[in-house]
Amino acid sequence: MSAGQQSWHPERYARHARFVSDLGAPVLALLAPQPGERILDLGCGDGALTERLVAEGAEVVAVDASPEQVAGARARGLDARVMRGEALEFEQAFDAVFSNAALHWMKDADAVLEGVARALKPGGRFVGEFGGGNNVARLRRALIEALDRRGHDGAAADPWYFPDEAEYGAKLAAAGFTVESIELIPRWTPLPGDVEGWLETFGGAFLSHLQEEQRAEAVAEVREALRDELQDEEGRWHADYVRLRFAARLTAA
Ligand code: BEZ
Repeated sequence: MSAGQQSWHPERYARHARFVSDLGAPVLALLAPQPGERILDLGCGDGALTERLVAEGAEVVAVDASPEQVAGARARGLDARVMRGEALEFEQAFDAVFSNAALHWMKDADAVLEGVARALKPGGRFVGEFGGGNNVARLRRALIEALDRRGHDGAAADPWYFPDEAEYGAKLAAAGFTVESIELIPRWTPLPGDVEGWLETFGGAFLSHLQEEQRAEAVAEVREALRDELQDEEGRWHADYVRLRFAARLTAA
């Protein structure tokens, strides 16, 4: 684990993060993929939702910055490529760009939007959902504090970009899109297991700043700090997700 880097482990992801694609139905419905459409899935992860686009009859190219996730997507038989969202290499190639639960990992949103606009045919649509506003505010705060207490700059280690509707709507417009809908949706989400699984799956960019032997202790401390806020009376853990869901269309030239 190199300092500051989020890494992905397919087996851990399948165990602790399957709900990410399971909860993708509303944004898929907003996209409404049509048979024969060419669609780019931006930040495809292990390809679980990409498969659903293919099942609708779309011709899909999937990209992700993680070689491990792309290997998982290819194992499903998908056309998946390792590519950073800030450096998309397509020109007027797609009818639609789709993204679920990925854009918050791409801090340079302007570079992403420039690449998405370039990848779309004139009038093409960009439909997505990602963390917005106060997304995972409790989890984020507890991780920052755990790093601060150990002499690190927790805020500087934060890998996430969670804009609100006004900020992201303005960025979409500046990149040449007409925003058709954009809304913040609080989504208190039951986790499939202990919050430690979530922290180990998604908190890598924070935890990677710590020595190996400090990590388990920090995770246990964060868990304890969050128990009253995120664990219910039956012992079930939740994450305080807020989604930013949007549909935009590239303004015809
Ligand atoms: C999200 O889907 O909102 C998210 C997932 C992991 C870390 C941060 C945010």
